[in-house]
Amino acid sequence: MSRLKLSGVSKRYGDFFAVDSINLELQSGEFVSLLGPSGCGKTTTLRMIAGFADPTAGIIEMDGQVLSSPAGSVPPDRRQMSMIFQSYAIWPNMTVQQNVAFGLELRRMRNAEVKRRVGEMLEVVHMNHLADRYPAELSGGQQQRVALARAIVVRPDTLLLDEPLSNLDANLREQMRFEIRRVHDETGITMVYVTHDQVEAMSMSQRIAVMRDGRIQQYDRPEAIYRYPGSRFVASFIGSPGINLYEGDLISREGALHFVAPGVDLPLTGALVERLSEPAGAKVTLGVRPEDVLLHLEGGPPDALVGRVTVVESLGPETIVTLETTLGDVTTRVRGMQPIDFAMVARACGATGLSVERPEDCGRVIEQALATPGPVLVEAVVDPHEPPMPPKVRAEQALHFAESLARGTPNRGKIALTVASDTVRELV
Ligand SMILES: Nc1ncnc2c1ncn2[C@@H]1O[C@H](COP(=O)(O)OP(=O)(O)O)[C@@H](O)[C@H]1O
Ligand SMILES: [Mg+2]
Repeated sequence: MSRLKLSGVSKRYGDFFAVDSINLELQSGEFVSLLGPSGCGKTTTLRMIAGFADPTAGIIEMDGQVLSSPAGSVPPDRRQMSMIFQSYAIWPNMTVQQNVAFGLELRRMRNAEVKRRVGEMLEVVHMNHLADRYPAELSGGQQQRVALARAIVVRPDTLLLDEPLSNLDANLREQMRFEIRRVHDETGITMVYVTHDQVEAMSMSQRIAVMRDGRIQQYDRPEAIYRYPGSRFVASFIGSPGINLYEGDLISREGALHFVAPGVDLPLTGALVERLSEPAGAKVTLGVRPEDVLLHLEGGPPDALVGRVTVVESLGPETIVTLETTLGDVTTRVRGMQPIDFAMVARACGATGLSVERPEDCGRVIEQALATPGPVLVEAVVDPHEPPMPPKVRAEQALHFAESLARGTPNRGKIALTVASDTVRELV
């Protein structure tokens, strides 16, 4: 039996469906995320599960018992659930230990038992040593851990979390992701986690319900959502940098299906074909994740799609390279910092590579370019002492530099390319 089951649940405000006929089932002990952009109905769904809002239509059940139906609702305090909100207000006039004990005292538990349970709980969230501090003496992450302890200490069957990490900075968020997951694994509490952050959903959940406009678009394991998105929306909502999407035709030729679009004729293989629901002849969209594109600076296979590098972003652990091709823009990701080797690009284009490192070298390089037979590629190196700029601005600057370089020459065709700086190289 599923722990929690929503069947055809809707919430309407006037004519507007904040939640539109959703179905969702969770197993006992499962960690499920509701993921979607702001306004898609996540909080409304969570509030209906908690009993703070009644559905306009549909049924919510827990362990086979009806919690909400058009006929009536079980009140929130009888649902065995705790909820953590985005603004994790813990009581400022109580110490950590008093905050966590409060819910147990409300339940008239014996003092010794309260003490024991609070001690255990503070251990789980690694806050024992700060038990006597007041909230004002704690960091955001520590306060969030107190909120977590306070919600869990009453041993709810189900914990509902509404964007609990969105007020924390990036480092703390990462740490708290890990802590919440650990608490889940240690307590086995069923958790419904609301977030608009795909990284949170992907890294913590056993299953993710991707929501849009009040509806669940796809409900599946994180890997499945990533590998086999069920719609264009899910495909582009998950993954950063985003998936590459191309319109084309599905064509049957010599017993095989091909995706055909300007510049590509891609025979489709096993797993992909099995999942296709469209017949041959249909217009389809091809989605390619950036890490699935193999980038060859030279010596690529003969049927490779040929492109012009437009932007290179070195992010440290990886480099994002965007190319312009007949098919459209192609974003690829490459492990590590791999600045494009200018000499290699020049060779790949069958050209001679020249560099301009200082503006005063311009004239000399132009003379040199004109004297060189065949095409010439000129690399314009942006001054490394300039303040950091976003990649696109640097690319534009490089382009501008190349144009002014080209304007000064009688033989414009000679200068085919400019490449700028260590981080951005723009080809013209
Ligand atoms: N009490 C309400 N009255 C009218 N509209 C509401 C109410 N609560 C939420 N909504 C609307 O319902 C939609 C979903 O809201 P919400 O569930 O808070 O989205 P999310 O949590 O995904 O950002 C939004 O468009 C919101 O403006
Ligand atoms: Mg919300």
